[in-house]
Amino acid sequence: MNVLGIETSCDETGVAIYNTEKGLVSHCLYSQVPVHAEYGGVVPELASRDHIRKLTPLIRQCLSDGGVRPFDIDGIAYTAGPGLIGPLMVGATIARSLAMAWKVPAVGVHHMEGHLLAPLLDKDPPEFPFVALLISGGHTLLVQAERAGQYRIIGETLDDAAGEAFDKTASLLGLGYPGGPALSKLAERGNPEHYRFPRPMTDRPGLDFSFSGLKTYARNMLASTDQSARANIARAFQDAVADTFSIKCRRAMRQTGYKRLVVAGGVSANTGIRSKLQNMAQKEGIRVYYPRLEFCTDNGAMIAFAGHQRLREGQQEGLAINVRPRWPLDEIRPIGD
Ligand code: KG4
Ligand code: ZN
Repeated sequence: MNVLGIETSCDETGVAIYNTEKGLVSHCLYSQVPVHAEYGGVVPELASRDHIRKLTPLIRQCLSDGGVRPFDIDGIAYTAGPGLIGPLMVGATIARSLAMAWKVPAVGVHHMEGHLLAPLLDKDPPEFPFVALLISGGHTLLVQAERAGQYRIIGETLDDAAGEAFDKTASLLGLGYPGGPALSKLAERGNPEHYRFPRPMTDRPGLDFSFSGLKTYARNMLASTDQSARANIARAFQDAVADTFSIKCRRAMRQTGYKRLVVAGGVSANTGIRSKLQNMAQKEGIRVYYPRLEFCTDNGAMIAFAGHQRLREGQQEGLAINVRPRWPLDEIRPIGD
């Protein structure tokens, strides 16, 4: 079965083809970052227009890269939420229209399930059950994943998402959009001993997060020092986020008794966070799985893969084009019985 996957929830246009026997056949990505960079964040209307411009050529390219003809496609998966309503509508409308024209089923995928399943695209994938730490620009979730399609949220952020905290702090430090990768680069030059930020909510029980205070902390610190301290502040911020994840993940692993931890979403590309999680995992005797680097941030491959799991089970949408800009992960349809 060949599944065409389409991701348009935010500022990346992602397209991929996943085949039941061969795995990932082809994938293409177009990033809108230069479009939004001058505004310091994603402009939803510009994002929608750019998805309209780029999606069809990208689908053509993906088909030709994979040597797949339109009539070889057996189903289409698209991100139905959560995300920006305009961009979601573009993906859903094109996906649904192609499905109707090609007379194949279409299925709406939850973006965060895409992130959660992304490590399963790898050669040595994690088996269920596992705990997933999903850290992206819009979400920060700790998920108890019993099996594919069955997810219990055991922790989440009470305010900013991790990626959002990175982006806002990066902006305070005068770094461009999106700030996560730039902040991480600056942090490499920082002295870890110079400043110490708090590890929010680690002094009380539970698995929830709060990141908005860290950005305020960075702002106050920046006001009381000069620009030369930027790298040290970046380092202290990143270490605080990394330690917080490490402490909460250790708690989640002990609470569930699971031995596998999946870390996915854009922020999981961060090497500082990865190394702290690795230290914790070694001590706890657990194993951490990541998507390959290019599938940490938004992409079509994870949507093709997640949609494939559902289409294979016969799931499909009706003809109506529905998207859900807000869509709790634990409200999705289960896969299988
Ligand atoms: O998963 P993603 O591509 O999009 C959403 O679903 O939101 O995540 C994007 C987020 C942005 O906030 C970006 O700054 C952050 O991931 N990010 C990083 C790194 N790479 C991307 N944050 C920290 N370190 C990185 N290396
Ligand atoms: Zn994402």
